[in-house]
Amino acid sequence: MKIAIGADHGGYQLKEKIVAQLIELGHEVEDVGCFGPESVNYPDYASQVCERIEGAQAQRGILICGTGLGMSMAANRYPHVRAALCHESFSARLSREHNNANVLCLGERVTGTELAADIVTVWLATEFAGGRHQSRIEKFSQC
Ligand code: RB5
Repeated sequence: MKIAIGADHGGYQLKEKIVAQLIELGHEVEDVGCFGPESVNYPDYASQVCERIEGAQAQRGILICGTGLGMSMAANRYPHVRAALCHESFSARLSREHNNANVLCLGERVTGTELAADIVTVWLATEFAGGRHQSRIEKFSQC
């Protein structure tokens, strides 16, 4: 699967670990940065990932900041993006089954490394259930 990933300085360290995990799982990863701990602006990285979802250059996106909040707010302004901020694996699974989330947001300052890795694994492995959920997401999102 083609996955675009981005982070600000608050999510940079977790992003490095998630990139390694994605490559290990066999995914095609485009890392849009940031590439160091210097302070940057999270909307600049949310836009790069979301533009790749809008343009279908990536099937999924992962965005990481300190809390995941800023990234999810910025990402959900894009018409084709359904971004889910997940702090545990149950929500990650349901964000796929019910919401067909195509962007996963994580907070490095909130979620530990091993839990974040499990969230990513579950989120990538879970299919959208479709059916009644399709008409619901069509009420707020371009599909
Ligand atoms: C950066 O300090 C922090 O505000 C950012 O990473 C994120 O948590 C914003 O929502």
